[in-house]
Amino acid sequence: MTQTVHVNLGARSYDVCIGPGLLAQAGALIAPFAPTKRVFVVTDENVARLHRDALAAGLAAQFGEDAVRFFVLPPGEETKSFAHLQQLCSQLLQQDISRRDLIVAFGGGVIGDLAGFTASIVKRGVDFVQIPTTLLSQVDSSVGGKTAIDVAEGKNMVGAIHQPRLVLADMDVLATLPPRERRAGYAEIVKIGLINDAPFFDWCEANAQAVLDGDPAALSHAITTAVAAKARIVEADEREEGVRALLNLGHTFAHALEAHGGYSTDLIHGEAVGAGMALAFAHSAELGLCSADAAARVRAHLEAAGFTTDITKLPGAPFAPAKLFTLMASDKKAEAGAVTLVLARAIGQALIQKRADAEALRAFLARETKT
Ligand code: GLY
Repeated sequence: MTQTVHVNLGARSYDVCIGPGLLAQAGALIAPFAPTKRVFVVTDENVARLHRDALAAGLAAQFGEDAVRFFVLPPGEETKSFAHLQQLCSQLLQQDISRRDLIVAFGGGVIGDLAGFTASIVKRGVDFVQIPTTLLSQVDSSVGGKTAIDVAEGKNMVGAIHQPRLVLADMDVLATLPPRERRAGYAEIVKIGLINDAPFFDWCEANAQAVLDGDPAALSHAITTAVAAKARIVEADEREEGVRALLNLGHTFAHALEAHGGYSTDLIHGEAVGAGMALAFAHSAELGLCSADAAARVRAHLEAAGFTTDITKLPGAPFAPAKLFTLMASDKKAEAGAVTLVLARAIGQALIQKRADAEALRAFLARETKT
């Protein structure tokens, strides 16, 4: 059964539909947002190989074969570049895209970010729909309107907030997702329980394996809960001037771990977030903000779900603590070199700490990286 979460942002409001079989219904579902009936689908080679036919059939049923164009890009983070942005804009303009046509981002976070950013600038802004195909993009990056590319100065450093008109999270496409990718998405699900929903964390402890195994009822509950929680936070703070930063729980540590390893695919984002959330709770306990029991419980759950939380054993180890600190201080959320951390008073009670205690953080990183 399809669940719908409404994201209430006034004129920029939209629905997130979560359920099986949505690719087949995609044409009918997106028709209200495609007045010209011209649809430009951006995807990558892997998603195209596995799911292009299903989406093409779903769209053709509504728009006919000729109205739908596919743009198939190489998979991987390198695609989130100025070069691909430029190429995609040129291709869309050569196809004479108009401001009333529709772009569809059909893929994981890379495609969602690139196609969404393209939609925000081509012809000064075209509507777009997200059809996320990874668990991570279904529960996090497809909702909330963040779009970006990576540049030499850092990941996601050039972008825009451009809300989609609709998000279709088809759970069926998750069946082809490698277990590692599913676990990576699970990190962003459990994050919601840790931020502001302790009963959901209890649920995660009991149901993580069912989610990781792809059990439809567990997946549907997990995705719907995570999206609804994210929607409420984005509604309160669309431009991340306050509470939206809570969604970065574990991410400042994670980005430093990923950057330290040169963003190697040995450590994918969700795996780094899993370790980063354990570090955020351990540091919170050390600072006396939360109990040691809470930090131990978080670490135990993440380990049980298959994450490596001991960073001396994480791909990319050994990590140099001074380099991790420097990377955390240069995170795009950092203000004038001061580190902003998301820490916690308890499970389900995250908080934003601006100007975190640098010496305490340095000492913590030194201990955590020591073998
Ligand atoms: N991924 C965090 C956010 O959308 O704010």
